[in-house]
This record gives sequence, C-alpha cells and structure tokens, in this order.
Amino acid sequence: MSKPITVQPVIEKGILVGTEIKGQQQRFRLQDSLDELARLAETAGVTVVGRLTQALAHPNAATYIGTGKLEELISLIKAEDAQIVIFDDELSPRQQREIESAIDDPDVKVLDRTALILDIFAQHAHTREGALQVELAQYEYRLPRLTRAWTHLARQAGGRAGGATGGVGLRGPGETQLEMDRREIGRKIAQLKRELKLVHQHRERYRARRRESNLPLVALVGYTNAGKSTLLNALNDGDVYSADKLFATLDPVTRRITLPSGRTVLLTDTVGFIQKLPTQLVAAFRATLEEILEADLILHVIDCSHPNLEEQASTVIEVLEELGASDIPVLEVLNKVDRLPAQRLPLAIRVRFPEGVAISALHNSGLQELCERIDTQLATIMVPVEVLIPYDETELVNMFHENGIVIRQEHRAGGTLLAGRLPRAMLHRFRPYMVVKE
Ligand code: GTP
Repeated sequence: MSKPITVQPVIEKGILVGTEIKGQQQRFRLQDSLDELARLAETAGVTVVGRLTQALAHPNAATYIGTGKLEELISLIKAEDAQIVIFDDELSPRQQREIESAIDDPDVKVLDRTALILDIFAQHAHTREGALQVELAQYEYRLPRLTRAWTHLARQAGGRAGGATGGVGLRGPGETQLEMDRREIGRKIAQLKRELKLVHQHRERYRARRRESNLPLVALVGYTNAGKSTLLNALNDGDVYSADKLFATLDPVTRRITLPSGRTVLLTDTVGFIQKLPTQLVAAFRATLEEILEADLILHVIDCSHPNLEEQASTVIEVLEELGASDIPVLEVLNKVDRLPAQRLPLAIRVRFPEGVAISALHNSGLQELCERIDTQLATIMVPVEVLIPYDETELVNMFHENGIVIRQEHRAGGTLLAGRLPRAMLHRFRPYMVVKE
C-alpha cells in the first residue's frame, strides 16, 4: 500500500533558465513566467541565486539553449556555487542528459518546471488519492529520464525503504542499476495504477451517494494560490453559514454550506491550475478534475491583486475548456481585494469581469454578497418544472420547497401540483411526476 510522500525541506541554491521563442505568442511574459518559477522553486525549498534568459528561433534539440548560453550557465553555476538548475519549459529526456553531461558535475541537478511542480504536488498531496496520483505522475515522468541522479526528488520522497526512488537517487548508477531501476519503476507504475483504480471505484460510490443527496454542487476552481482553500474554509467556518460535517469524511475537500436563502449546497475544492501544467499531472488528476463537470456552478477564484491576473484567469478558462466544462455557468470571485489600494477594484478589472464579486476570503469580507450571488445564480440555472405529486409522497413536496423555488401550489384530486424551478441535479427524483418540463 502506498503512503503519501513525506518531505524534509532542503535549502538548495538554484538558477532559473527561461527562453523566449521568437515569433511564438506566449501568454505570460518571460520575466513573469520566471517570477512564477522562482516562487515555485522557493516553495520546493530552493533559494534562487540567478536567472538566465535567451531569445531563440527554436529550442536546440540537444541542449535546449544555445551552446554559448550553456557556457554562460556553467560559469554562473560555478560563480554562485549553485546545486540546481531549473528550466522554465519541459526538457526532453535527451536535452536533460546533454545539459547534465555539459555541466559535468554530479552535485548539480537539472530539473524543469514539470519536475518542480510534481515535486511540490508531492509535498502537498494530503489525500491518499492525491498522493497516489502524484506518485504515478512522478514515475511516468522519470521513467524515460533514468540517466542520473534524482536526488532532489529522491530526497523529497525520503524514507521509502527499498523503493525505486532510492535506486534512482543513486549518483551515476551503472547500466545494470539503470535497467533494474527501469524494471522496478515499471512495476511500481503498474501497482500504482491498480491502487488508483480501486480508489476511483471508491470515489465513484461516494459520488453516487452525493448525487442521491440531490444537493446542488458548486466547484471552486482557480489558479494556484488564488485563495480557494481559504474561501472554502471561510464559508465553512463562518458564523453566518452553518456547516454540516456530513461529507467531511466522504471527501475531505467537499463541504456542505447553507446559503442565506436556506438552500444547502455542496462546495468542492479542486486542485489549483498553473500555466504549463505538466501533461502527466493533468492526466493523473483527470478523475479528480472531472468532478468539475458535475458542478451546477463553477466559482472561478481570481487573485485580483496579482499583476498577472488576466493571464492566470485565461489559463484557468482554457483548462476548463479542455476538460469540457465550458457549458457550466461560471461566477468570477475576485479575491484578495484587501490588497488593492483603498480595497477597491480598479476600473480595468471591473470592465474585464463585470459580473465578478469582490471578496477577501482572508478577512471574511464580501462573503455575504458572494453567497447571495451563488443563490441567485443557482436559481437561474434551475430548471422550470411542473409536477403532480401523489399525496403519499409528501417528502417530495417538502424537498421541492426546501431546494427549489415554488411559484404555484394547488391541491388536485391526484395529488399536489407544484410549479416552479428545481436544481438540475434533483430532476430525476421528480421525473415520474412531471406534468410540464421546459
Ligand atoms: P492552491 O492550493 O495553490 O490551489 O491555492 P489556493 O487557491 O487554495 O490558495 P490558498 O487558499 O491556499 O491561499 C493562498 C495564499 O493566499 C495564502 O497565503 C492565503 O492566506 C492567501 N489569501 C487567501 N485569500 C486571501 C485574501 O483574501 N487576502 C489576502 N491578503 N490573502 C489571501
């Protein structure tokens, strides 16, 4: 059985390398992307001591950057006594090998953004499913790159006695060792896939139970660090909104909250998005991300104090499109408004997100309005229906009153006639009694 990877943070000195491919439109400017990479590096325990950039017509197939730049990098590594080099873009296994052999120093590791993100995810995966998903993604990423030391990652995965990681972490292993590592990793991948299959089946059962609860599902999505978890907690713990722990054991990131109208919804947190999200990770988290597709409403949490909020928001929208979630209504939540001058949204942001709700999840401000807006949105995405409910099914009448909007109620010979709106997720319970459905 796989245990979550535990981490002992290691402080290492690192150099970042970013490139700009001429004629290729990038969403993030090079320096902004490197700023983000620096934050990621710091999160993983690396102190950034230098940056190198290069504009290229196209990446060098062998070394990614040009030969002259590589020389410059080697000098910088020596000058700064750095132990780690992090490329902002994904390196092919060959590029990684070539760069490592040019540096020719077993104490210097070459990583790319993907490996770094995988590393951070490993640190942050708290649920068993999350840990398994990240571990699988890490092994799949490492398999074609099994050439040299992976001590950074190996150390992060520390304590896994006799595991493949220990082997991978050995400096300069010989061919035989490499072959053993490859086989071992192959076995490990197969085992993780089997474990994940079981976890997914388990999740499917919970999902089915959740559907039966008939509560509208609201999914929190957002760029990494936008404040989703803070918001989930604020809504969950806030005095105004009562919290019920029913689903707490079911899925640690789904909470029941009661809106001002009295309507109860399920609020679910999802993994944060980031530009250049490693494909392995998207694939690994697909099952988790697919929960978003079941949502009645998506809350897109945006850090409105971030200089790249526009690029971050576009990245999130793109990932949602890729997941096939474009049809689900989205409410933009402009978080961290407390960090803006006078705590007010500048005109440009208001123009860009005219429907957005400004909040501070940290300071519990704007939450009342947010809940009201969620309420209104859910009301508008409810489906108009007319049902005739037999008198022996009174609980359905109650359910309609509690979760839907009753516009008209009449007592007829065959039962109670209710006309109004119901959450989409609840329709199947009423289907046998429908008179009119638009
Ligand atoms: P990921 O796990 O990366 O997806 O992040 P997240 O979106 O869940 O963000 P999280 O809630 O962890 O918040 C990220 C950081 O922003 C934390 O340091 C929070 O304290 C801070 N933060 C969240 N909301 C606010 C806010 O309204 N104002 C300010 N000033 N900081 C906030």
